[in-house]
Amino acid sequence: MQLSRITSMIEPFALQLDLAAGTMAGAESCIARRASDMRGYYADESALERLIREQQDPVHYETFESPVPEEYGQVKFCISKLYPGLVGDEYFMTKGHYHQTAETGEIYLCLRGQGLMMMKTAQGVCNWQEFAPGRLVYAPPFWAHRSINTGCEPLISLCMYPGDAGHNYGDIRTEGFPKRAFQRDGKVAIV
Ligand SMILES: [Fe+2]
Repeated sequence: MQLSRITSMIEPFALQLDLAAGTMAGAESCIARRASDMRGYYADESALERLIREQQDPVHYETFESPVPEEYGQVKFCISKLYPGLVGDEYFMTKGHYHQTAETGEIYLCLRGQGLMMMKTAQGVCNWQEFAPGRLVYAPPFWAHRSINTGCEPLISLCMYPGDAGHNYGDIRTEGFPKRAFQRDGKVAIV
């Protein structure tokens, strides 16, 4: 899909975030990914199938999107809410993505919870940064990024990115990330 280079004139607006609940009033859309949407992403596929079966395919993560056009010059923002849990011994995580316009970065401001931002380049260089309340993580242009919840409560972040960034899920689905986060002996192990 070719993203628009046209920038629309829109009206200023304000909206209310619930920082504790991780919701956005007046959100344009709420994307919910269920455990069954995560097939192919976890190391232990049978553990994921068990989770889908035994917990009625629970919501894995939700994104509340701002009502801002996906256009060059706009600043998109969203609330990302990733629930806590394990698939086998691997922490719940998002699919991860590159940006469709690869030369665009993103800011994640963690509002609640504990976790990691796992990042990688197309050349396979890997980097991860810690999420904790008040901690800001910068995912630079060209870096794929995935959130991982290593805590016991929802991991909630406010994300801000250029309007024409777009999402490219396909490449990272094929490549995968070089590192995964597991719970081993009660601790976070990045393997
Ligand atoms: Fe992104």
